[in-house]
Amino acid sequence: MEIRLEPKKTAEVESDALIVVGFEGAPPGVGAGEAVKELYDSGEFSGKALEIAILHRPAGMKAKRLVLAGGGKREKFDTAELRKLAGAAFRALKGKGVRSMTLALGDGWQSDDFAAAAVEGAILGDVENDRYKTDPKKDEKRVASFSLLGGSQAALDRGRILAEAQNFSRDLANEPANVLTPLLLADRAKQMAAEYGLECEVLDQDRMRQLGMGALLGVAQGSAEPPALIVIRYKPAGGSKSSDHLGLVGKGVTFDTGGISIKPSEGMEKMRYDMSGGAAVLGAMRAIAQIKPQVPVTALVPTVENMPGSKAQRPGDIVKSLSGKTVEVLNTDAEGRLILIDALTYAQQIGCTHLVDAATLTGAIVVALGTVNVGAFTNNEAFLEKLLAAAKAEGEKTWQLPMDEEYKELLKSNFADLHNIGGRSGGSITAAWFIRDFVGETPWIHLDIAGTAWLDEGKPYMAKGATGVGLRTFVRLAESWNAV
Ligand code: BES
Ligand code: ZN
Ligand code: ZN
Repeated sequence: MEIRLEPKKTAEVESDALIVVGFEGAPPGVGAGEAVKELYDSGEFSGKALEIAILHRPAGMKAKRLVLAGGGKREKFDTAELRKLAGAAFRALKGKGVRSMTLALGDGWQSDDFAAAAVEGAILGDVENDRYKTDPKKDEKRVASFSLLGGSQAALDRGRILAEAQNFSRDLANEPANVLTPLLLADRAKQMAAEYGLECEVLDQDRMRQLGMGALLGVAQGSAEPPALIVIRYKPAGGSKSSDHLGLVGKGVTFDTGGISIKPSEGMEKMRYDMSGGAAVLGAMRAIAQIKPQVPVTALVPTVENMPGSKAQRPGDIVKSLSGKTVEVLNTDAEGRLILIDALTYAQQIGCTHLVDAATLTGAIVVALGTVNVGAFTNNEAFLEKLLAAAKAEGEKTWQLPMDEEYKELLKSNFADLHNIGGRSGGSITAAWFIRDFVGETPWIHLDIAGTAWLDEGKPYMAKGATGVGLRTFVRLAESWNAV
């Protein structure tokens, strides 16, 4: 799909559809005034968020259709609302065979952030997740162009880079686990890195054994699919001003059966998205390579398949992590934290000074925050403040959970340094504490994305399946690094 700026005035736009935002009680001030007024007066369109109304052959305009898109309450309208609205309008029109669209940015929201958000909404809305359907008409439904009336080329480019990266992530997370094995994920990562000029190194099982990544390897041993640790490096041209080095670590479990502590079969098919954290980190690197922030960023994705094969680790097994600490594995389904600790220790060993991990880590975070907010945990409040500001600017709702020392007590093991589960209550917090125990004093943030990385039902602005959450926050965090 072509994305471009439309230099014309609304009346001159020749698209199949000109999209304008109408707010509650405030019709848009474009042409076709009478018809628009009638839509509002009749109540057919009231401006409620994500509402869509279509006028054909609007008087005095060259566009084939004038599309009113509901922006909700004007005072609440922000970039997140526009992103969703652009996606919803895009999806509604695409379904009707519209091939070219132009969205008019209204007065007061012409800034780069709004323009980028509109482009993102459209590109994110363009994903159908129907690769495995053999529908011959698929290509006929493609939109040829999406244009913006207002905004700058730079904003449009940024929006395109971010949304295409997010779609890359979503695509990885949507892939079934028979297709996307750990080694295939590593191949896709290598391909992406080569395409965008990033350094990529993949540590194989032997190398990880030599290094002593017993926690990660213990999880992998029940599967016929070998594990990998993907490492991708971005270095700013001309070196960086400070010694900061951001490490992004993403959980890459290509399928989580639970292992010997096997999960119930109902809903288990969803566990192919258990590599969403890894996918978000890889997608972030794809965008970072193009946006070129000032700070060095290294992505690390430990990737394994958690299976109950004959070599699988058993409850009660004790493994030695790369850090040297031992872990008693009381539940093989708490595998994410086991692969993350080895990747995080490795990140420290290769020089990362600040760490952020993203993981579909616990069912408990879905109970706590539902599917709305990402759960955030930290050992460094100032660092988390930066990340929360980045998340807010990107419309990725994120909510901090507490990390009082009392929770840590629940991880004490009788036979090893600690065990890998904390009991029934506060499950997301004890999971975070488990990880924190290994990162020590290095500024670190853990994002639990188990509730937000997947949509069971499609939204008007996004198809069902993987969301790619976290990626935009990572990119903005890296971008704003020196500014804070
Ligand atoms: N991948 C799951 C967490 C998950 C649950 C992700 C639901 C997405 C949706 C993780 O590996 C897991 O199984 N966690 C266990 C931990 C428990 C055994 C302490 C859980 O949350 O039940
Ligand atoms: Zn699990
Ligand atoms: Zn898992």
